[in-house]
Amino acid sequence: MAKPELSALLSQKVAGTKSSPIRDILKLTENKNVISLNGGYPAPESFPIETIRKLTGIVIDKGPDIFQYQKTEGYQPLLDVLPSFLSRKNRQVISTSENIAITAGSQQALDIIGRLFIDPGDKIAVESPTYLGALQAFNPNHPQYIEIATDSDGIIPASLEQAFIDHPDIKFLYTIPTFQNPTGKTIPLSRRTEIADILKKYGKLAIEDDPYSETRFEGEDIPSLQSMAPDNVIHLFTFSKTFAPGFRIGGIVAPKDYIDEINKLKQGMELFTGGFDQALVAEYIKGGYLDEHVKRIAEIYRPRRDMMAQAITEHFPDIFDFTVSQGGLFIWVSLKKDAQQLASKINMKELLDEAIKAGVSFVPGAAFFANSKGNEIAMRLNFSNQSEENIVKGIRIIGELINGKLSLA
Ligand SMILES: Cc1ncc(COP(=O)(O)O)c(C=O)c1O
Repeated sequence: MAKPELSALLSQKVAGTKSSPIRDILKLTENKNVISLNGGYPAPESFPIETIRKLTGIVIDKGPDIFQYQKTEGYQPLLDVLPSFLSRKNRQVISTSENIAITAGSQQALDIIGRLFIDPGDKIAVESPTYLGALQAFNPNHPQYIEIATDSDGIIPASLEQAFIDHPDIKFLYTIPTFQNPTGKTIPLSRRTEIADILKKYGKLAIEDDPYSETRFEGEDIPSLQSMAPDNVIHLFTFSKTFAPGFRIGGIVAPKDYIDEINKLKQGMELFTGGFDQALVAEYIKGGYLDEHVKRIAEIYRPRRDMMAQAITEHFPDIFDFTVSQGGLFIWVSLKKDAQQLASKINMKELLDEAIKAGVSFVPGAAFFANSKGNEIAMRLNFSNQSEENIVKGIRIIGELINGKLSLA
């Protein structure tokens, strides 16, 4: 029998789905001696292995029930301890165990949000640029993206308000207010207040994705949008960057009626959740291990960020702006406004190919624009997952390649 033709079988939903450029770059660089500045991986040396070993024993000693099916919304002892985690200074999220659902990392939360709210053609407001993984989660539902202008402080409130006026049918705003992926930018307190007021004024919903606010190495914590407008904001959290991504534990905080809908949808995806990893996270929070771990992350990441910023200043031509954020994992490099005439001299795809051959990878910026024209001269550089030495080496290589292009043309 002939094998069924896959293209004839694929649902309209998924036909045409593109693979993540980041995954594609990872594949290209696998098993090669390439300095990867493209992923968003935490430093493995930061993983609290000894704590995990100890907590594993504690959880196993609880008895065999921990290996039983757990309910769809999550393992109750974790749900019970999460409000204290969520109320820490870096979030100040208002919650009870009743308005939280556990997800397999915040990536599953994004998939759920997409399925729950987006019909084909629905308008979704996103930061310009935004997190590629969110676009991937939303894309199978075929939304129409409205890109909201940003500056060095993230979303420009007037642009958001104008979007709500021009498109009253926008379903929600998706935003990463703290140490944004890909730019590292943080929306300051005064702007958050303005954004919360705009959401309330227009009766709009925002999805606030916050994987990074614990990874602050300097400056003051800023409360979440959710703390300012709990009826207008769904808040996403994850332990990927503050414990270890291998646990795949994150979640959604939302008004109770939203959580009920989310759990109904979740029943089709995972009628039961796994309790073991959730119990480890619950013990991690209860045991007060987070503060120490967050300090350790700062000690590792801050010098890497500094080294990357210094290397960019030294080795890149002075035609780029770049972000130096007070936390997170990324530096975003983009062509200065007054250097736009040089854009035609730099083909980002070509630059990436050459960089990989020379031993370093990055993510070209175009991947992060919802309605990309493909010619954005920008790149996302990750500093959390490479040694300081490799960071300098990688940046020097990219800088030399760019300089070569500018002098050739
Ligand atoms: C903004 C943002 N949201 C969500 C995620 C997904 O993280 P996870 O599924 O590991 O919680 C990431 C991962 O890098 C991210 O940067």
